Amino acid sequence: MVSVTLSGLAARYGRKAIFSDVTTPALHGGRLTALIGANAAGKSTLFRRIAGQLDGAGTTVIHGAAPHDLRYMPQETNTSAALTVYEAVVLALKQDKRSWRLDPAELAAVDDALKSLKIEDLAFRQLTELSGGQRQLVSIAQTLVCQPRVVLMDEPTSALDLYRQFEVLELLRDYARSTGAVVILALHDLNQVLRYCQMTLAIAGGRMEAVGETTEVVNSDLVRRLYGVEARFEACSRGHPIMIVDGQARG
Ligand SMILES: Nc1ncnc2c1ncn2[C@@H]1O[C@H](COP(=O)(O)OP(=O)(O)OP(=O)(O)O)[C@@H](O)[C@H]1O
Ligand SMILES: [Mg+2]
Repeated sequence: MVSVTLSGLAARYGRKAIFSDVTTPALHGGRLTALIGANAAGKSTLFRRIAGQLDGAGTTVIHGAAPHDLRYMPQETNTSAALTVYEAVVLALKQDKRSWRLDPAELAAVDDALKSLKIEDLAFRQLTELSGGQRQLVSIAQTLVCQPRVVLMDEPTSALDLYRQFEVLELLRDYARSTGAVVILALHDLNQVLRYCQMTLAIAGGRMEAVGETTEVVNSDLVRRLYGVEARFEACSRGHPIMIVDGQARG
C-alpha cells in the first residue's frame, strides 16, 4: 500500500511565507483524503510544494511508489494548446516516456481514461472548443491515464454539474480503492468531504489546523476557525452526516 507523509513542509513566494511546519501522519492509499481551507489558505501552494514545483523546508516521504508516480492536477485547466482531447490524453500518458510509439496497452489506457470519464464522444474535439466542465473532465482523464500511485487534484469538481460531481467523486473513490493509490483532493464543498473523504487535512493561518479521520476533525469548531461561519452537523434521513450553514460567526 502506498502512503505519503508530510514532514515540516514550508513554502514561500519571494519573502512571503505561505505556510510552515505542515506535518501529517502517514496518509494511506486506498481512500480519499480531503485538503480543506479558506481561499488563499495555501492549498494549491501545498500541492505545488508536494509535487516538487516549489522549494522550501521539510520533506514529503512517499512509501510504496516512486516520485514519478505522482500526478498533480492544477486548479486552472484553461488551455490555449491546439490539441484534440485524444492528443492531450496521449501526451499526458507519454509525459515521462522515451518512445512516442503507442503499444496496445497504452492505446487501451487512453480509451479507458476517456471512457471512465464518459468523454469518448469528445475525443476529436479541440481543447479550446470545450466547455469549462468538459475541460475539467479532460484534465482528470489526463491525470489518471498513467495510473499514478499518488494523485493530487486541486478542486476537481469545481466546474462540474451535480451529476458529474457525483460521478467523478465515485470514480476517484473507486480508483483509490482498486489501485491503493493515495488520492488527495482540495475541496470547498464540505458535504462532499463528509461523504467521500475518509481523511481530512485542514490548513489556516499559515499552518496545519487539523489532520485526521474526517468524522473526528470536521466539526462546527473547525468550520468556524477555517471559514468564520456557524455550521451544524446533523444526520440526514439516511443517517449520513450533513453540514448546514446557519450564517457568519459572530466576533
Ligand atoms: N505565484 C504566486 N506568487 C505570489 N503569491 C502567490 C502565488 N500563488 C499564490 N500566491 C499567494 O499565496 C497565497 C496562497 O495561495 P493558494 O493559491 O495556495 O491558496 P488556495 O488555498 O489554493 O486558495 P483558493 O481556495 O482560492 O484556491 C495567497 O495569498 C496567494 O495570493
Ligand atoms: Mg487553490
